[in-house]
Amino acid sequence: MSLKCAIQLGIPDAIYSHGKPMTLSQLISAFPIHQNKKPDSHLIYRLMRILVNSGFFALQEVVVGKTDLLEEGYVLTNASKLLLRDNPLSVTPFLLLGNLFNEAMASDARLVTSVVIDKCKSVFEGLESLVDLAGGTGTVAKAIADAFPHVACTVFDLPHVIADLQGSKNLKFVGGDMFDKIPPADAIFMKWILHDWSDEDCVKLLERCKVAITCKGNEKGKVILVDIVIVEDQNNKDIGYDNHAHDHDHQSYETQLFFDMLMMVLVRGRERKETEWAKLFLDAGFSTYKITPILGVKSLIEVFP
Ligand SMILES: C[S@@+](CC[C@H](N)C(=O)[O-])C[C@H]1O[C@@H](n2cnc3c(N)ncnc32)[C@H](O)[C@@H]1O
Repeated sequence: MSLKCAIQLGIPDAIYSHGKPMTLSQLISAFPIHQNKKPDSHLIYRLMRILVNSGFFALQEVVVGKTDLLEEGYVLTNASKLLLRDNPLSVTPFLLLGNLFNEAMASDARLVTSVVIDKCKSVFEGLESLVDLAGGTGTVAKAIADAFPHVACTVFDLPHVIADLQGSKNLKFVGGDMFDKIPPADAIFMKWILHDWSDEDCVKLLERCKVAITCKGNEKGKVILVDIVIVEDQNNKDIGYDNHAHDHDHQSYETQLFFDMLMMVLVRGRERKETEWAKLFLDAGFSTYKITPILGVKSLIEVFP
């Protein structure tokens, strides 16, 4: 889909005609689209990022304008030269992306939960109560409630999602809108939630979480997130696809970028780098955070008031 979009926007031909590394803003101004309908630059940045990672384009530094400032520009690779309109060998290798996409989607909620509970026990130490915010039908919260019987767990989700669901000794279901009011607890847990939402909505939600977190004496509660923290694959800088070592880091980064693209087209959310997460936490009034990579592309993030 990303490749098809790049071809429909004429990106390979635009870079070819430009004749040297083409910066993001130069690329966007070359689109055959009316000025008023030009896409936001962050959308094209993210589209190009996934295609650089897949080897269809590469990045090279270039001097822009009359200054001696260096900027990164996009160049063609052997793969994208095959996509040029006038290339007699032009092919349409859209199918190349099919399998990778499926791999990216092969995530397993149960596995993540058992890893979180096994490897991150200390994260739940000292908690007496926890809300699994937008916790769906409670698969994750049930596992936490069973593993930590002294923690009172609440699954909070939209009323129609939790209707008719039965709780247990230390698990209950509460219906409502998380943008309204969140039940108070020592920890607010969110798995696969913030990547669904825009930065503005995330800050709003985190502000509500901060209000909901209870304090016991000097001990303050926390927010616990399970989400992706994008770690850039340094191999992409100045090196074409042909030289890539297809190592674990490259594949993890690729999977993270596929999730990012999925969030972009399905829900207007995004996957975030550490600096982007840090900004959200700061904007919502939190002071510190701790990231623990847990499984493949996912991380556990503790956020403290
Ligand atoms: C991607 S699912 C994640 C479910 C669960 N955390 C997990 O990892 O399995 C997103 C959840 O957000 C819930 N949701 C969406 N908007 C909500 C809102 N305004 N208030 C409460 N829950 C909401 C949906 O009903 C859905 O269960």
